Amino acid sequence: MKDLIWKKEGKGESTSAAIMAFLAGEDIELDKELLLFDIQASAAHVNGLRQINILSDEEATSLLGGLERIESDFCAGTKVLDSRYEDGHSAIESWLTEMLGDVGGKIHTGRSRNDQVAVALRLYMRDRLRKLQQCCTDIATLLLERVKTEADLPLSGYTHLQAAMPSSAGLWLTGHAEAFIDNAELAMLTTKWLDASPLGTASGFGVNLDLPRYEVANELGFSRLVVNPQYAQNARGKIELQALSVLSACTLDLRRLAWDFSLFTTREFGFVKLPEQFCTGSSIMPNKNNPDTVELLRAVHAVVQGAQTELAAVLSLPSGYQRDLQATKPPLIRAFDKGLQALLVLTELLGGFSWCKERMQASITPEMLATDRAQDLARTGVPFRKAYKKAAAQVQETGVDGIAASLENRVSVGGCGRLETGMLQARLNDLKN
Ligand code: ARG
Repeated sequence: MKDLIWKKEGKGESTSAAIMAFLAGEDIELDKELLLFDIQASAAHVNGLRQINILSDEEATSLLGGLERIESDFCAGTKVLDSRYEDGHSAIESWLTEMLGDVGGKIHTGRSRNDQVAVALRLYMRDRLRKLQQCCTDIATLLLERVKTEADLPLSGYTHLQAAMPSSAGLWLTGHAEAFIDNAELAMLTTKWLDASPLGTASGFGVNLDLPRYEVANELGFSRLVVNPQYAQNARGKIELQALSVLSACTLDLRRLAWDFSLFTTREFGFVKLPEQFCTGSSIMPNKNNPDTVELLRAVHAVVQGAQTELAAVLSLPSGYQRDLQATKPPLIRAFDKGLQALLVLTELLGGFSWCKERMQASITPEMLATDRAQDLARTGVPFRKAYKKAAAQVQETGVDGIAASLENRVSVGGCGRLETGMLQARLNDLKN
């Protein structure tokens, strides 16, 4: 372990390797995901210090050059964040001091690792939520694109997983599209909600320097400040939970979609065919072709839900910075890595699956038209309850024409005959980054 930045001359026993490993934990690994954001915020902090003359132009320029070099060396793999460092924040200062001498030690003027980590995490979440929004709009776009040519394909509609009424691929596709449009909106609103800079609040009490907080926040693209230093720390975990809840809405819808695919690809349903690349074989049963990809997609929500529970459990804390807050990072980062990866796979799946038209058509049986018949009678003035009983007693032949008419006549807004994709498309366009 390199010299710890907080170590005081001639003071105390050094912390044992076992204790250091426990304190740093997987933190150093996770800080790899935060390092570029930390560097970005560090550069803005340097500019802030220059503005109030804590750093000369020359010092600021050399620190900014140092930060740039750290960034490129880190990306090239020539500077490695590993257990030699306590965390990513101290590594940056260590590297700067190694490269630039004493001026490296000036970067921490007016800041604490507490606001340093808080700002890096906000930048991280803003980035991941934007990616999430992009994934959601991509998914909705793919679904609506398919509606253009597949809207009228008949598909059995189920309630209780029992055949109910004739439905259509169009209704199924737009149903999932609307879900992801909602999710994209949630991601956008949440990004806006957490788009505030905690940098300049230091350890949670402010500092005796007139830090140009607004300008620094502006440089980082934040639209406002977290004003109160105590709240900058108390918000940690709370905003992470909110970000996770957006991800969770997405993986919940992903799970339902995956469930549908899992059913629709069985021999019993047989409505959907997945491209070969999404399936695997069995090690013993030569006849098998398993939709493992959709099953693992279905399992991703469990990871996110676990992360929400783990994160919430950490947050029983008094005000101000507590080291427990470090434990909010693993569930956040783990869940976003997994969730975003899964949503990207889903976009590939949605571009590649095909419908098995004959099976879809054949699965619609005459009694599934009973509801349409009851409505037809009610339209002529028969009280619905009477019409219902009459329709129950009449089972008619359902030819292809009957199914097509059933779908076409479902003209209530959003129904198979009136999907209103234009409305969804307009919402989607507003949400494209
Ligand atoms: N890894 C720490 C965290 O995530 C960084 C902040 C450390 N601050 C401190 N006062 N020890 O919370």
